[in-house]
Amino acid sequence: MEIFDIIKCRRSISPEFFNTKKIKKKEIDLILESSNWAPTHKKTEPWRFKIIKDKSKILLGQFLSKKYEQTNENFSKLKFNKIINKCKKSSIILIICMHRDPLLRIPEWEEIASVSMAVQNMWLTATSLKIGAFWSTPSYIKYMNEHISLNHNEKCLGIFYLGYYDNFNITRIPNPIEKKIETL
Ligand SMILES: Cc1cc2nc3c(=O)[nH]c(=O)nc-3n(C[C@H](O)[C@H](O)[C@H](O)COP(=O)(O)O)c2cc1C
Repeated sequence: MEIFDIIKCRRSISPEFFNTKKIKKKEIDLILESSNWAPTHKKTEPWRFKIIKDKSKILLGQFLSKKYEQTNENFSKLKFNKIINKCKKSSIILIICMHRDPLLRIPEWEEIASVSMAVQNMWLTATSLKIGAFWSTPSYIKYMNEHISLNHNEKCLGIFYLGYYDNFNITRIPNPIEKKIETL
C-alpha cells in the first residue's frame, strides 16, 4: 500500500472486533521499531512502552476495571465487563509512556507530541500489516503506577490495544481540510 492509502486506512479498531489470531513477535518488533523513528526535539526520544501479554493482560483488565469501579459514580457493570474483555481480546497491549528529559530542556508538550508521533508510526505500521489498534485514555490511567512500575520521569499517556480482526466497516469521513486552512 502507498503511504497515503495506509494513512487513510488507519482506524481506531476496538478490541471488540479482534479475533483470536496472535500477533507474531517479528510483527510486534517491527511495530515497535517503527516508533523509534519518530521526530524528537533535542533527540530526547521520550517514547517508552511496557509490553503486556499472556497472563499480564488479565491482570491489567482486573486492575483497570477495579479502578473504573472505584473512580466512577455512575458505575455500570456492562462497562466494567467491557474493560476486562478489551484486555482479554487483545493479542498484545502496549502501555504508552513518556519519559521526560531529565534536564527538562524542552516543554512537556513537545515530549507528548513526540510520543504521539511515535504512536502514529506504530499505528500506521500495524495498519500496513492489517493489524487493528486502539489508543485508549481513560481518566484512571493516572493510577497506572499502582499496577506497573514506572521509572523516574515516566508518565502513562494511554493504553494501546492491538489485535487482528476480520471485519471493520465503520466509516469515518473527516470534515474537509479546506475548513481547517487559512491562506494568509
Ligand atoms: C490521544 C488519543 C486518545 C484517545 N483516547 C480514546 C479513548 O479514551 N476512548 C475512545 O473511545 N477513543 C479514543 N481515541 C480514539 C478516537 O476516538 C479516534 O481516533 C477518533 O474517533 C477517530 O477515529 P479513527 O481513529 O478511527 O480515525 C483516542 C485517540 C487519540 C489520538
